[in-house]
Amino acid sequence: MKMKKIFALLLALAMVFAFAACGEEAAEGNGAEGEVVTYKAVTEPTFPPFDTTDENTGEIIGFDMDLMNAIAEDQGFKVTYTAMEFDSLIPAVQSGSADIITAGMNAEDPERQEKVDFSNTYYDSGLVVVVKKDNKTINGMDDLTADMKVASQIGTTGADQTKALFNDGKIKEAVILNGFDTCMLQLKNGDVNAVIIDQPVAKAYMAKQDGVKIVGDVLNAESYGFAVQKGNKELLDKINAGLQNVIDNGTYDELIEKWF
Ligand code: ARG
Repeated sequence: MKMKKIFALLLALAMVFAFAACGEEAAEGNGAEGEVVTYKAVTEPTFPPFDTTDENTGEIIGFDMDLMNAIAEDQGFKVTYTAMEFDSLIPAVQSGSADIITAGMNAEDPERQEKVDFSNTYYDSGLVVVVKKDNKTINGMDDLTADMKVASQIGTTGADQTKALFNDGKIKEAVILNGFDTCMLQLKNGDVNAVIIDQPVAKAYMAKQDGVKIVGDVLNAESYGFAVQKGNKELLDKINAGLQNVIDNGTYDELIEKWF
């Protein structure tokens, strides 16, 4: 009888530990001395040159990955990269199923700052309007009219701008799509009149395939940061320290040279 009770107790304990393990962070390795921790980073890879896919290997590559890898090397950790839709990135880090967002994400967004913690920023950017190269009527945001469709990627600052244009009655439809690759395709096919997208990414698309152009001024000012779960100060400190080191030792400039 006594043995049975002890056994039941042990079983209950084992189950508690099993559940606790389920709720653990995505990071692997228990942090024991000498063991290298591997963090899980997530991104949305239709955002060249920051986040893209190697056409030959299918591997996720880009400025963000190279920069995070350099930070990881400097700080003695490892990172794996997983693709998901842009509007799933913050929920993934909030729930702990991922550790880091490496996705050219504007860190200067109060709504996002309530949900995740951002590193120091690593790239200044801004949004632009992109149209077909032969378009003569749209020379900037003010030329968009109530009969036009404008596309952008779900969950992005570009989507916010596009939806604002729609809500102000300035365009006919805000076409919110999963990938910026699809936005650009729809533009080329004539399904939409314009795309609102980050300027360096617009330039990368223009370099890859002809037929589109940037018009007008840059619409806003944003700065990209890496994001971690709220309160994960340990990881955030490592990212910030590593970022500063790779800026100071010239690696950051080499990566800018490589990707831009
Ligand atoms: N900079 C924009 C934002 O913060 C777009 C980022 C899109 N990134 C991506 N990997 N698709 O919303």
